[in-house]
Amino acid sequence: MDRTVHEGLEGVLAGESAICEVNHEVGGLRYYGYEIADLAEHCSFEEVAYLLLMGTLPQPDELREFKEELVASRPVSHKTLDFLRQISPSVKRMDVLRTAVSILGMEETLHNKNDHVTNLKKATRLIAQMPVILAALLDQNTKEEVRSDSSLSHAAYLLTILTGIRPDPFAVKVIDVSLILYAEHEFNASTFAARVTASSLSDLHSAITSAIGTLKGPLHGGANEAVMEMLLEIAAHGDVADYLAERLDKKERIMGFGHRVLRKGDPRSDIIKNYAKKLGERMGDEQWYKISTTLETLMRQQKGLYPNLDFYSASAYYLLGLPIPIYTPLFVCSRIAGWAAHVMEQHDHNRLIRPRCAYTGPAAKTFVSLEERV
Ligand code: COA
Repeated sequence: MDRTVHEGLEGVLAGESAICEVNHEVGGLRYYGYEIADLAEHCSFEEVAYLLLMGTLPQPDELREFKEELVASRPVSHKTLDFLRQISPSVKRMDVLRTAVSILGMEETLHNKNDHVTNLKKATRLIAQMPVILAALLDQNTKEEVRSDSSLSHAAYLLTILTGIRPDPFAVKVIDVSLILYAEHEFNASTFAARVTASSLSDLHSAITSAIGTLKGPLHGGANEAVMEMLLEIAAHGDVADYLAERLDKKERIMGFGHRVLRKGDPRSDIIKNYAKKLGERMGDEQWYKISTTLETLMRQQKGLYPNLDFYSASAYYLLGLPIPIYTPLFVCSRIAGWAAHVMEQHDHNRLIRPRCAYTGPAAKTFVSLEERV
């Protein structure tokens, strides 16, 4: 047996997957062979979710059917929504969301089946249910006219029920792009957690509940909320360079920078950066973009680190009027498509994921009974 330990599993190929390629040599990121920049520019989230779940881009009639299925699957029981609404606002929204997916798993009529077709149905329903769950996390009561408006795309429906107002098309495009960029990223920590859970032949909702618990941490999905809190602190402080020097002196991490795999820059960051800039211009509020670009330059010069997707996503969400505690749940709303694709791939070619560890505990000891131990 190879005894080499790879801390954090860095550089380890932990399995095979056809879903997503993360590699600087192929432009950074592709879903089933398609470059992320093309998907973000030309597709809706529904098209990309279809691609991730089915492995091919949809034909027009396939997309229409998929959208109809998503719209029909939007409702969540009043009992579940009321339960989520009565949880104290002091509880972290990601904790409520993790619990919500667990409850949806118990309510799922196909709960006990894990075959490919059933998993597809469960995944589609879960993707469709996310917007109304996120609205419940914000204690937003969705008006019936919005809830039943089947003409709203997934992004438009999500933004409408989160903000309570009908958004303009550019705002919807920003959310669509953000959902596409966040949808999939091969064996990142939360996806790997989902695959480990699925590999015991547990169900899709259990795997996604594991993934949400993993995504919550600030080194992973929790970073987008931490970024906005940091930008607000910088605005109050007044001097970006000074603020950065203080944090680096204390050996603190600057959220939204660095990536385990994309060490030379994250192509998703360039895409969302462009939208954050345009949003600032349109809304006459360019301070977040100015602070962010200054910080980006300083981090590159001083630490050789580049922004990741979370960095400019934070100010884009802020300009769209979204409350900070909903930023990581928005990541979930999107990544559910990728997680589900991985759960299906794992179930379709399953082998229990069970690695070994290098034992570092004490050598063999002689057992002493409790009475003789004093
Ligand atoms: N701010 C400051 N320093 C950072 C940093 C950051 N955001 N990211 C990495 N570093 C530094 C580390 O302190 C370490 O320095 P050292 O060698 O002097 O100790 C070095 O870079 C390598 O860091 P390491 O933690 O080994 O890299 P990793 O591959 O394990 O980390 C992340 C990847 C994403 C966890 C890390 O870059 C990070 O914590 N980023 C901030 C959180 C974030 O934005 N997460 C979202 C990821 S998409």
